[in-house]
Amino acid sequence: MNLLVTGGLGFIGSHFVRHALTTKNWSVVNLDKQTYSGNPDNLRDIETNPRYRWVKGDIVEKDVVRPLMDAADVVVHFAAETHVDRSILDPQVFLKTNVLGTHTLLEAAKERKITRFIHVSTDEVYGSVSTGESLETDALLPNSAYAASKAASDILVRSYHQTFHLPTVITRCSNNFGPYQYPEKALPLLITNALEGKPFPLYGRGDNIRDWLYVEDHVKALVTIIEKGSVGETYNIGGTCSISNRELFTLILNTMGKSPDLLQIVTDRPGHDFRYALNCDKLLCLGWKPTTSFPDALQSTIAWYSERTDWWRPIKHGKDFQQYYQHQYTQRS
Ligand SMILES: NC(=O)c1ccc[n+]([C@@H]2O[C@H](COP(=O)([O-])OP(=O)(O)OC[C@H]3O[C@@H](n4cnc5c(N)ncnc54)[C@H](O)[C@@H]3O)[C@@H](O)[C@H]2O)c1
Repeated sequence: MNLLVTGGLGFIGSHFVRHALTTKNWSVVNLDKQTYSGNPDNLRDIETNPRYRWVKGDIVEKDVVRPLMDAADVVVHFAAETHVDRSILDPQVFLKTNVLGTHTLLEAAKERKITRFIHVSTDEVYGSVSTGESLETDALLPNSAYAASKAASDILVRSYHQTFHLPTVITRCSNNFGPYQYPEKALPLLITNALEGKPFPLYGRGDNIRDWLYVEDHVKALVTIIEKGSVGETYNIGGTCSISNRELFTLILNTMGKSPDLLQIVTDRPGHDFRYALNCDKLLCLGWKPTTSFPDALQSTIAWYSERTDWWRPIKHGKDFQQYYQHQYTQRS
C-alpha cells in the first residue's frame, strides 16, 4: 500500500512513518515543508529505507500535492501549525496551513482513487468540557485560533465526504507525549529545562486538566483506523490519563529528582481551556487499546530526553526557539 503522509518530519508524523515502515510492508512518501518543528533528524534512522521518500514541499501548493496524490492509496494528514501559544501571537499561518492546506489536499484527493483520507485532528476542537467526556458527535466549540483552524479543517473534511463521497476519516486525539517533540510543548520544555536547571513557566495555578497519551499508542490507533475504521466516521483517541498540569509536572520533577520549586507561575494563557476529556468507546470497539502504561511511558520519555541532548540542545539554543521563548515568557514572569 502506498501512503502519502503529510507532516512526517514532525513529532507524531515521524513516529507514524517509522511505525508504518517497520511494522507494515507499506511505502511512505512524506510531504513536509520542514517548518521550525519539522526536523529530518526525527527520521534519520529510516531515511535510507527504499520504501521511504521525503518530498520537501508545502501542502498549500496544488502543483506540489497533485502528482504525489496520483501515486497514493491512503493519505494520512498530520501537517499543521500546532502550537496554541503561537496561534495567539500570529494566527494567519494557522489558517493558511491548517485550513487552506487541508483544502488543497482534499481537492487533489477528490480527483484520485484513494481508499482513505485520514485527517489527524485534536480534542481541542471540542473546547473546554467542565464535566463528562466529549463524544464524536458533540458540537465543536474551539477557543483558540489553533483549535478553530483545526475545527474548520474537520468540517471541510466532513463536507468532502458528504458532497463528493471522498473516503475520509477524522481522528481527534488528546495530548501526546514522547520522544522527538519540539521543546516548546509542555512536557519536553519541562524536562529539558529541568535538565538544564532552569525554571518552567507554569500557566496560572496549573489546575487545568488534560488527558495524556503516549505517542506510540496514538500511531497504533491510526493504523487500527486505517485498517478497520469506517469511512465518513470520526474517532476520538485518548482516555488513558487525566491529570492536572500541576500534578503531572510535579510528578515529572519528582521522578527526575528535581525540586518542584522549578515550577514558576506566569500569567495564564488567554482563553486557556480548563479541561479536555474524550470518550473513546467507538475506537475501543475497533479493538485498539493503549499498550504502554502511563508511568512506564513517562519514565522512558524522561530517559530519552536525558540521553538525547544532541537532539534537543541545538533546537533550544537555536534562533527560532530563543526568539519565541523570550517573546513568550519574558513579559509574563
Ligand atoms: N501534539 C499533540 O499532542 C497533538 C494532539 C492531537 C492532535 N495533534 C495533531 O497531530 C498533527 C501533528 O502534530 P505534531 O505535534 O506532530 O506537530 P509538529 O508541529 O511536531 O509537526 C508538524 C509538521 O508539519 C509540517 N508542516 C507544517 N506546515 C506545513 C506545510 N504547510 N506543508 C507541509 N508540511 C508542513 C512541519 O514541518 C512539521 O514537520 C497535527 O495536525 C496536530 O493538530 C497533535
